[in-house]
Amino acid sequence: MKIIAPSILSADGGRLSEEIAAVEKAGADWIHIDVMDGNFVPNITMGPAIISSLRKTTKLPFDVHLMIENPDRYIESFSQAGADIITIHAEATNHLYRTIDLIKSFDKRAGVSLNPATPLVQIEDVIRHIDLLLIMTVNPGFGGQKFIASSLSKISRANKMMEGLPRKPMLEVDGGVNLQNIGDIAEAGADVIVAGAAIFGSDDYQKTIATMKLAANNN
Ligand code: DX5
Ligand code: ZN
Repeated sequence: MKIIAPSILSADGGRLSEEIAAVEKAGADWIHIDVMDGNFVPNITMGPAIISSLRKTTKLPFDVHLMIENPDRYIESFSQAGADIITIHAEATNHLYRTIDLIKSFDKRAGVSLNPATPLVQIEDVIRHIDLLLIMTVNPGFGGQKFIASSLSKISRANKMMEGLPRKPMLEVDGGVNLQNIGDIAEAGADVIVAGAAIFGSDDYQKTIATMKLAANNN
């Protein structure tokens, strides 16, 4: 079964706990939390304090996507705030291996993300040590952007690259997912699918998530 992770970037920011409760009730598997520092990406969102408050409102895993420079400085804070999976960008740290180890030292699952322009070879040498690979299918920074079509082949290539590993990392896809393309994304090998605007911009979260699951698991 594919995992559906609504991105609360597109939720109503003034009612985040209600929005999380609503998608939990609607069948969400994880909650995807986008952390932006106004430096690595041209936008600013939330930090550990808000995540810590939200942690009390749900038992769903918190999938924390750090779009921040020098993430090492904040791994401990996000761990303590209640993140379950911490994903950092390969482009944002000079010593990827060290950052992955740091995440693991707090008993969290370690993810690495690649921007659309970053080739897979960038993570070839750490792939055995991570729990999740996040392929960005839009340039990070904003919700509601268009899926970059060439990403489908990157997802398939990432899936092939990880096949046969003793402990295959989960493959997550983030950006521009909608009801039309989710089937192809799942078929290309995604295990975890993030969706922001497609879920929070819809009138009926339950119906949208159910339709997404049907399309994603239908191959
Ligand atoms: C983009 C974020 C995504 C974004 C996805 O920088 O990492 O998680 O919220 O939103 P949609 O699904 O609307 O593209
Ligand atoms: Zn994200």
